[in-house]
Amino acid sequence: MDTIIKISQSQTELAWDLAREMAEMINNAGRRGKTISIALSGGSTPKLLFSILGDNFSDSVMWKYVHFFWGDERCVSPEDPESNYGMTKNALLSKISIPSSNIHRIQGEKDPEKEAVRYSKLISRFTREREGSPVFDLIFLGLGEDGHVASIFPDQNHLLTSEKICEVAFHPVSKQKRITLTGKIINNADNIVFLVTGTYKAEMVSQIIESPGIVDYPAVYIEPVHGVLKWYLDIDAASMLNQWA
Ligand code: 6PG
Repeated sequence: MDTIIKISQSQTELAWDLAREMAEMINNAGRRGKTISIALSGGSTPKLLFSILGDNFSDSVMWKYVHFFWGDERCVSPEDPESNYGMTKNALLSKISIPSSNIHRIQGEKDPEKEAVRYSKLISRFTREREGSPVFDLIFLGLGEDGHVASIFPDQNHLLTSEKICEVAFHPVSKQKRITLTGKIINNADNIVFLVTGTYKAEMVSQIIESPGIVDYPAVYIEPVHGVLKWYLDIDAASMLNQWA
């Protein structure tokens, strides 16, 4: 497994670097007439990245060559402040020219079990396949303070090994239902990017990167089978890393 760690001086620098890399990746595909599939993360961290893309790259990126998906979604309506899709629409999607047929939101307002099945079929339809499973060109992940990724929370490790594409999960504290990609599908991606900022994530980052055999957080099990794992960190989130400090 190839792991790349990029440490930026600030959250803003990190977001700009990642925005430029994402723009180049999309335009490279567009110049070859190829579409790429990107699964976006929720939470607060990616909001700055999405805003920078929406405010500064709307005209310089060939957005029609992207199909956007979500790695997970809260089981709420798209208008709900908790909605990952809603956050992305406000920060990015409402500012770029992209066919609506390229935006594949998880319908959080629907019955979770039925939506997990519907979304799994949709992913299979719009992505490449490798070894019988869908392949995303790029999957963005955040990192929870408890070491969760997407909506794969600690003590729900069956979501890491499930043979399904999507599963219904639940937040361990709020019990809010979620739809999440399974670990198997995440690990089948060509590029997996963790986007993590803030001192409050530093200990978790250092444990996962430097002591994977000792801790049992879901993030430890994110190991691309064929692709590349990239950690995009600001100096605060990287502050407890030994070998990269
Ligand atoms: C979600 C995300 C979740 C998130 C982490 C980090 O739906 O909330 O998918 O996995 O990435 O909880 O969230 P922050 O970026 O807000 O710290």
